[in-house]
Amino acid sequence: MTATILVFDSGIGGLSVLRPLQARCPSAAYVYVADDAAFPYGGFEEQALIQHVVHLMEDLIGRLSPDLVVIACNTASTLVLEPLRARFDTAFVGTVPAVKPAAASSRSGLVSVLATPGTVRRDYTRGLIEAHGGDAAFTLIGSARLAALAEAKMTGGAVADAEILAEIAPAFVSDGDRRTDTVVLACTHYPFLRAEFERLAPWPVAWIDPAPAIARQAAVVLGEAGVSGDGRESTPGLAVFTSGKTPPPGLRAMLNDFGLAVADAAAAG
Ligand code: DGL
Repeated sequence: MTATILVFDSGIGGLSVLRPLQARCPSAAYVYVADDAAFPYGGFEEQALIQHVVHLMEDLIGRLSPDLVVIACNTASTLVLEPLRARFDTAFVGTVPAVKPAAASSRSGLVSVLATPGTVRRDYTRGLIEAHGGDAAFTLIGSARLAALAEAKMTGGAVADAEILAEIAPAFVSDGDRRTDTVVLACTHYPFLRAEFERLAPWPVAWIDPAPAIARQAAVVLGEAGVSGDGRESTPGLAVFTSGKTPPPGLRAMLNDFGLAVADAAAAG
C-alpha cells in the first residue's frame, strides 16, 4: 500500500522540504497543501493560529487520511505541533529552527536565526536556544517581508536586491573580533532566495537549511511504507491551495516539476 504524506505550509515555501522528502521517501504519494487563504502566518496571534491550523487539519486529515503530516513551516511548527499531536492520532513531523547544528558548526560563536516575526517570538524558539545553543550567541531576526518576497520570486515576479538586503542585513553582526559565520534559514520560504542571500551577504556565511534533516526524520517515522520501491513508479501528487485560486502558469509549471497537479477548487474545500 502506498503511504500518503501530507506536506503543509502557509504558502509555497514548504516545497523546499518536499524535494528532499521525495528523494528519501520515493514511493509515497504526496499531497502538498498551501494555506494561501491565510498567508502569511508570520503576523498571526498565537491562539488564533493554533485554532486555525487545528481546524484546517480536521478537514484535511478527515478527507485525506494521511499516514504522515509534515508541517513544512517553522511559524506553525513552533506553536501547533503539540496541540496537533494531542488532537490527532496521525504522525506529525515538524520544521523548527536548526539551532543545534548551527551552534555545533559555528566557529565564531555568532549565529543568526532568520525567521518570521512569529517564529522569533515563540517560547519554543527561545527554549531551543537555551537547550541546544551551547555557548553561541544568537541573534534572532523576524522578517515580515521575506516570505512574500520569496513567493514573488517563485511565481516569476521581480524582487529588488535592496529589498532583500534590507531584510537580511540585521543578521550580520560584528563585535569587533568576531562576526556572524552561520545563519539558520528558519522559514521554509527562504531557501528559495538562497542565491540572492549568498550574492548580497555583507560577508560569506554558512546557511543552514533543515530540510534534509526533516526528510530523514520523516523516513524514520514512515518506515518501510515510504522508502520501499525504486521510485520509478512514483504516484502522481496533488497540490491544494486553500483559497481555491488557480496558480499562475509559472507556478503550475514548478509544481509540475515536483510531480504535483493542482487540485480543482472543489478539492481545496
Ligand atoms: N514558510 C513559513 C515558515 O517556515 C512562513 C511563512 C509565513 O509567514 O507564512 O515559517
